[in-house]
Amino acid sequence: MIRTIEWTDQGVVMIDQRLLPTEEVYNTYQTVEEVAEAIKTMVIRGAPAIGVAAAMGVALGVNNLTSKENLQENFARICQTVHDTRPTARNLFWAIERMKDVWERHKESPLQEIQAALKEEAIAVHREDIEINRKIGEYGKQLFSEKTNVLTHCNAGALATAGYGTALGVIRAAVESGKDIQVFADETRPFLQGSRLTAWEMMKENIPCTLITDNMAGHFMKSGQVQAVIVGADRIARNGDVANKIGTYSVAVLAKEHGIPFYVAAPLSTLDLDTPTGEQIPIEQRNSKEVTEIKGQVLAPSSVTVANPAFDVTPNRLVSAIITEKGIARAPYDKSIQALFEK
Ligand code: MRU
Repeated sequence: MIRTIEWTDQGVVMIDQRLLPTEEVYNTYQTVEEVAEAIKTMVIRGAPAIGVAAAMGVALGVNNLTSKENLQENFARICQTVHDTRPTARNLFWAIERMKDVWERHKESPLQEIQAALKEEAIAVHREDIEINRKIGEYGKQLFSEKTNVLTHCNAGALATAGYGTALGVIRAAVESGKDIQVFADETRPFLQGSRLTAWEMMKENIPCTLITDNMAGHFMKSGQVQAVIVGADRIARNGDVANKIGTYSVAVLAKEHGIPFYVAAPLSTLDLDTPTGEQIPIEQRNSKEVTEIKGQVLAPSSVTVANPAFDVTPNRLVSAIITEKGIARAPYDKSIQALFEK
C-alpha cells in the first residue's frame, strides 16, 4: 500500500505530494510547526490525510515539551498552530477536537503519560482511517455494475487518506471484487491532483485509467462513456451539501444533465452537523501563482486579476448518495445523515 504518512521514532514521515509523480521523496517532520507548514504548503493534502497529520502534529508538539511548566498555554498554542493551516477540510478540526478530548482526560497525569496518550491517539486516528476507508469501499462497490466507467475529480485516494482512499477506495474495492472498472481522471486544475496523484495511484495498481483535462468531462458523458461519478469531500454540511475540490460542482451539474449518478464517498469525520448548509462552509482562497504558473513556468500576464478558490459546494439535490463507513445516505439528507450518527 502507498505510504502517505507515518508516525516513527524519528518524527512524522510524509511523502511529499508536491513532487509526485516524478519524484517519490519522504520527509521527516520533527516539530508541530513543521507539520503545520507541510499541511499549508500541500506536502500532505486531502481531508482525511490532513486530519491524521493534525493529530500527529498535536502529539509531536506535546512530545517535544520537556516539562509541565505552562502546559495549558503550550497545549493551546500547539492546537492553534495546527488549526491555522487550512480552513475547509472538516477532518482537521475533528482531529484537533479528538486530541483535546484525550488531553482533558490526561492533563493532570505526569507529562510522560500525557505524551504517551496523545501519541497513541494519533496512531489510532491513522489506523482507524484505513479501516474506515475499507468499509466505505465495501458499501460503495455495490453501487457499480459489473462493467462501469467511473469519472473522478481531484485525488480522494490513498494519498488523500492514511491509505486505501475514499472515492478511490470504492474503485479499489470494486476492482478487488472482480468488477471491470475503467477510471476517467480529471486532471484537476490548478493543482493537478488528478493528473499528478490519481493517475499515479491508478498506474501503480494497474487499474485502467484515462487522464482527461477538466473541460473534457462533458464530452465523455455525452458520448455515453461514463456510467458513474465518484468524488471525495472536504466537508459535508448537515443538509448534504458537499464542499470538495474546485470543479466538483461543474462535474455534478454535467452528471445531472446526462442522467449519470453522482456519488460522494467520505468518512463521518468529514460530516459537519454544526454547519447547516453549504453556504456556511469556509472556502479556502489560495495563492494566485497556482493559477498563473506551473513549476515556475509563467502562463498568464503578470498584471491579470486572478481568483483561486480551492473548493466549491455541490448542492445536495445533485448528490445521488453519500457513502460512509456506516452505510449509504440518500435524500432527504437532513434525516439520513443524522441517522448515520445514531447507528
Ligand atoms: O486541496 P486538496 O488537495 O487538499 O483537496 C482535496 C480534495 O478536495 C479531496 O477531494 C477531498 O479532500 C477528499 S480526499 C479523500
